[in-house]
Amino acid sequence: MALLRAACLSPLPLSLLFLLLPFFALHHAPLSSAADTISANNSLSGSQTITSASGTFVLGFFKPGNSSGNYYVGIWYSISNVTRVWVANRENPVADPSKSELRISDDGNLVLLDQSEAIIWTTNTSVSSNSTVAVILDSGNLQLRDASNESHVFWQSFDHPTDTWLPGGKIGLNKVTNQTQRLTAWKNSADPAPGIFSLEIDPNGTGQYFTLWNMTTSYWTSGIWKDNIFSNVPEMTSNNIYYVFQYVSDEKENYFTYTVNDDKIITRVVMDVSGQVRQSTWVATQQSWQQSFIKPSQQCQVYASCGAFGRCNEIITPFCNCVKGFSPKSESDWNLNDRSGGCVRDTPLQCQGSLLNSEKDKFLEMTNVRLPVNSHSLSGVGSEETCEVGCLSNCSCTAYSYNSSGCSVWYGDLMHLQEQYSESDAGILYLRLAASELPSSSSSKGTITWIAVGVTVAVLACVAMVWFITWRRRSRRMTRVSTAVGGALVPFTYGELQHATKNFSHKLGEGGFGSVFKGWLPDSTVIAVKKLEGLRQGEKQFRTEVSTIGTIQHVNLVRLLGFCSEGDKKLLVYEFMPKGSLDTLLFEPTPTALDWKTRYQIAVGTARGLAYLHEQCRDCIIHCDIKPENILLDESFVPKVSDFGLAKLVGRDFSRVLTTMRGTRGYLAPEWIAGVAITAKADVYSYGMMLLEIISGRRNLTGPEEGRHGFFPALVAGKLVDGEVESLLDYGLGGEAESEEVERACRLACWCIQNDEISRPTMGQVVQVLEGLLEVNVPPIPRSLQLLADETPDHNINFYFDSQTRSTTSNSSQVKSTTSNSSGA
Ligand SMILES: *[C@@H]1O[C@H](CO)[C@@H](O)[C@H](O)[C@H]1NC(C)=O
Ligand SMILES: *[C@@H]1O[C@H](CO)[C@@H](O)[C@H](O)[C@H]1NC(C)=O
Ligand SMILES: *[C@@H]1O[C@H](CO)[C@@H](O)[C@H](O)[C@H]1NC(C)=O
Ligand SMILES: *[C@@H]1O[C@H](CO)[C@@H](O)[C@H](O)[C@H]1NC(C)=O
Ligand SMILES: *[C@@H]1O[C@H](CO)[C@@H](O)[C@H](O)[C@H]1NC(C)=O
Ligand SMILES: *[C@@H]1O[C@H](CO)[C@@H](O)[C@H](O)[C@H]1NC(C)=O
Ligand SMILES: *[C@@H]1O[C@H](CO)[C@@H](O)[C@H](O)[C@H]1NC(C)=O
Ligand SMILES: *[C@@H]1O[C@H](CO)[C@@H](O)[C@H](O)[C@H]1NC(C)=O
Ligand SMILES: *[C@@H]1O[C@H](CO)[C@@H](O)[C@H](O)[C@H]1NC(C)=O
Ligand SMILES: *[C@@H]1O[C@H](CO)[C@@H](O)[C@H](O)[C@H]1NC(C)=O
Ligand SMILES: *[C@@H]1O[C@H](CO)[C@@H](O)[C@H](O)[C@H]1NC(C)=O
Repeated sequence: MALLRAACLSPLPLSLLFLLLPFFALHHAPLSSAADTISANNSLSGSQTITSASGTFVLGFFKPGNSSGNYYVGIWYSISNVTRVWVANRENPVADPSKSELRISDDGNLVLLDQSEAIIWTTNTSVSSNSTVAVILDSGNLQLRDASNESHVFWQSFDHPTDTWLPGGKIGLNKVTNQTQRLTAWKNSADPAPGIFSLEIDPNGTGQYFTLWNMTTSYWTSGIWKDNIFSNVPEMTSNNIYYVFQYVSDEKENYFTYTVNDDKIITRVVMDVSGQVRQSTWVATQQSWQQSFIKPSQQCQVYASCGAFGRCNEIITPFCNCVKGFSPKSESDWNLNDRSGGCVRDTPLQCQGSLLNSEKDKFLEMTNVRLPVNSHSLSGVGSEETCEVGCLSNCSCTAYSYNSSGCSVWYGDLMHLQEQYSESDAGILYLRLAASELPSSSSSKGTITWIAVGVTVAVLACVAMVWFITWRRRSRRMTRVSTAVGGALVPFTYGELQHATKNFSHKLGEGGFGSVFKGWLPDSTVIAVKKLEGLRQGEKQFRTEVSTIGTIQHVNLVRLLGFCSEGDKKLLVYEFMPKGSLDTLLFEPTPTALDWKTRYQIAVGTARGLAYLHEQCRDCIIHCDIKPENILLDESFVPKVSDFGLAKLVGRDFSRVLTTMRGTRGYLAPEWIAGVAITAKADVYSYGMMLLEIISGRRNLTGPEEGRHGFFPALVAGKLVDGEVESLLDYGLGGEAESEEVERACRLACWCIQNDEISRPTMGQVVQVLEGLLEVNVPPIPRSLQLLADETPDHNINFYFDSQTRSTTSNSSQVKSTTSNSSGA
């Protein structure tokens, strides 16, 4: 499961293998033979460590977090980013590692002793040998074995995983000993003690995984293992070339294990403190972990991820907050991402509470929430009032909800609440709070006051009526728009948008999903309103999708402000971009509109926006229609990608995207044209085509008169091999350009339009190349262009980005090094 990429995440590109090479080269230095072993006369203390033979894993004492005085024995990768994969004494830290000792005890077990020689942790197994050693292997496995025969293994850390599952490790169940190998999250980011979330195999032997809360409540399952995939993980393909995944079930045990085909890939699967299972792969050139898999994909799907009386939301950060009238039980635990303690009441309820309190508890109405689990239904209740009374009459009742099918009440802690929830089990929850927590509705002030108030109100109402009618709509819209700035999306009525756009009279453009109109809100905010066409989505689904898109915020993405959904009328309201779209500036007759510096910044910004969509959003979003028309520019020419998420809105599965989406000729990746399911690499292709247009200032496809020699991408590919790129630049720029940047952009664009999607860089790599952090080699001529290029030399180039050196390596004699000696402006 975790091992196999989600379909829209980029597959681990071949390039990664190359990226990883330099890192490994550093660690192949020979080490003395004992450096990976703890033996009878060689114990570990203080800052001493042992390191696996090829240097990948280290065992020693460590201290999580920066201030706690708790030390643990653990295993971590010897990479710059300290990442622990196993902890021995999870629950029993030692205070002073220099006075503690990890050694082989007299009975042959590996033990951890503290300063008073007390046993803190032990392998606690029966050893049938008079001499044992503990060895850290290159797989990250720590083995206790016979000193003279290494195939006599008495204990190994792979049988006792903590929160990390390494290639070669097992997650399973030993039917003989009833021992389970499960992943258990850390308690919080600074405490390796077992937390509340775990991942384990179904003890019934159905061959599926469960993620569990508190070892009892399952909140995600992989589905059963059949035909080499899990039924709930369809994106897992059996022909994945990087991982081999196996389920073993025999009379002794049931387990899953996986191996990586290439031992240069550093990868791990972790049960995270957040309750999500994540797979990450180390990218040495970026010195960071790249996440490739998260299940469940949404934080709020994790059971009780915000604890009791905590409320989860997908839309804003932090994703957890306490419901009104409650505060985190432990602020410090919350700050360490441990919310299992949940929230506690600020003011006690009347019946649990103080003697003086005479006012009855009240109820707070919460709309659009996912109702908490474990409700009880009160039978024979026919009205909302009796439901409320029913709840009030029992001190342990904390909430109720009433609908046409009856009255539900909750006793004790409310778990698994989610706000802004728009699925079928959403409802209105009435939360019980002490009266002082809710504003008084002052119902007992006496009749005289009431009459006085009544008369005044009547008079004022008449006076205010005219004003009110005139200004109501305007002020309403204005407050709603100002709340939009704070984050939430504004639901507009169709009438409001009709009014704002002067009955859709100022058309700005037309795209694959509908037309765009300019509009003005009453507070004079300028907006762009997109009328969506051909959307056949239900109201709820539309709202869910739109609110997901609405949460995506990045300086290089056009901001969604609001939406309208009335029957067939589906509209989206965006911020207005004063400089319009890139195509008008790029292809207009006056060529000086965009100088090189601005063009380069547009290329970088667009790439950043796309990288964000592909790699950093909770759900990967493939744009599916990258072209200059969809890149908008703000006042200072900052590019913003528009129309993102619409492909997703139209249909999540690619086959539907393929059939309903138009895409745009000239920017379509070959696999798309071929009708194969597309990945984020299709956007990379389109981006490459657009980048060429940014360089040349003209359309790649200009019309029927286009001869084969004139097709710009082919020209670029050819010139790159010849090492003369200045001639490719837009004539309009008069040579005013940074030649190194031009060359870099040309090479990069050519990599982006490779036929084989594996050869294309990811958008994240594109950003790094443009920023000059990664060097890019001369690309091969894309296969589809080879026919067009003047000559078709055999470019058998099997190298890729090279972070170490600019010079090209030797694999192809055809390649000339085209480093920075080209003349500038
Ligand atoms: C212990 O150390 C001594 C000397 O350093 C060495 O001769 C001996 O072989 C070692 N014993 C083991 C079991 O490694
Ligand atoms: C520990 O780290 C936090 C931030 O991560 C920092 O605010 C705090 O000052 C650090 N404490 C010490 C003792 O370094
Ligand atoms: C070792 O295991 C036995 C039984 O499996 C248990 O009773 C004992 O407490 C364990 N000892 C330690 C130190 O964990
Ligand atoms: C350890 O066992 C081996 C054979 O099993 C034996 O030859 C040797 O004398 C033993 N050593 C000790 C110290 O008991
Ligand atoms: C090590 O143990 C294995 C399995 O018990 C046995 O087949 C092998 O002969 C032993 N090797 C040595 C050198 O004793
Ligand atoms: C393992 O669990 C099964 C079922 O729960 C039980 O019947 C069996 O006795 C257990 N075996 C051991 C060794 O505890
Ligand atoms: C596993 O077996 C137990 C008892 O036999 C049963 O109650 C439970 O529902 C089973 N779980 C699944 C997922 O089949
Ligand atoms: C987890 O379960 C245990 C008993 O199985 C219970 O005592 C504990 O309160 C539960 N934890 C939470 C946070 O509910
Ligand atoms: C380690 O990597 C994570 C994510 O990749 C990052 O958030 C963190 O800052 C890194 N830590 C260090 C010390 O580089
Ligand atoms: C309140 O409800 C709980 C849970 O159903 C029940 O155990 C308890 O007896 C009730 N208390 C009263 C006073 O009805
Ligand atoms: C009423 O609420 C209950 C749970 O509180 C829910 O299961 C049921 O589907 C709701 N019925 C309707 C008609 O919404």
